[in-house]
Amino acid sequence: MTNGVFDVAVLVGSLRKESFNLKLAKAMQQVAPQNLKLEVVEIRELPLYNEDLEADAPAAWTAFRDAIRSKDAVLFLTPEYNRSVPGALKNAIDVGSRPYGKSVFTKKPAAVASLTGGALGAFGANHHLRQSLVFLDMPTLQMPELYLGGAAKMFDADGSFAQDSTKELIVKFLTEFASWIETTRQK
Ligand SMILES: Cc1cc2nc3c(=O)[nH]c(=O)nc-3n(C[C@H](O)[C@H](O)[C@H](O)COP(=O)(O)O)c2cc1C
Repeated sequence: MTNGVFDVAVLVGSLRKESFNLKLAKAMQQVAPQNLKLEVVEIRELPLYNEDLEADAPAAWTAFRDAIRSKDAVLFLTPEYNRSVPGALKNAIDVGSRPYGKSVFTKKPAAVASLTGGALGAFGANHHLRQSLVFLDMPTLQMPELYLGGAAKMFDADGSFAQDSTKELIVKFLTEFASWIETTRQK
């Protein structure tokens, strides 16, 4: 926390350059309440988790763990792959959760939003992710839920939300998340 502002790691579950979830992260940065600083923490360079590598942990793992450790909270933005969490995001979770007993996620407040081009709002990915967050012992915002479909029509050319109603929903979500961090974070 810096000057009353919560530092939030944003983990984007897509590696695509034109990712809608990355666009969502950027649009969220534009409308976030003043006490929430959202920063995307990259997951694309993380080698696949393999416990054998812990003896001489890859630099990318260490940098990722340090980045999460330095934040007050984590916001997960995920697409849905085959009704579940994309492998890249699951790998980031696995990397951050180890070595055993040294998870960087423990007790960090979290929130989940899922976004897909499809109609179902990536509900399957959202809830599979929540299953991991229980085991990671992350107090996770329950309401409002955020299942977003129709990604292709969500953003204007400049990256802002095309509909005021979407913007209002996102502002409400982020405002509730800021309150949730205030309530649940480790002092
Ligand atoms: C391997 C794969 C599996 C997918 N499975 C689903 C799915 O189960 N449900 C869904 O709504 N969309 C599915 N999609 C579509 C993605 O959710 C969609 O492409 C989305 O825009 C990806 O997010 P991004 O734009 O942030 O990269 C799948 C896409 C890929 C590449």
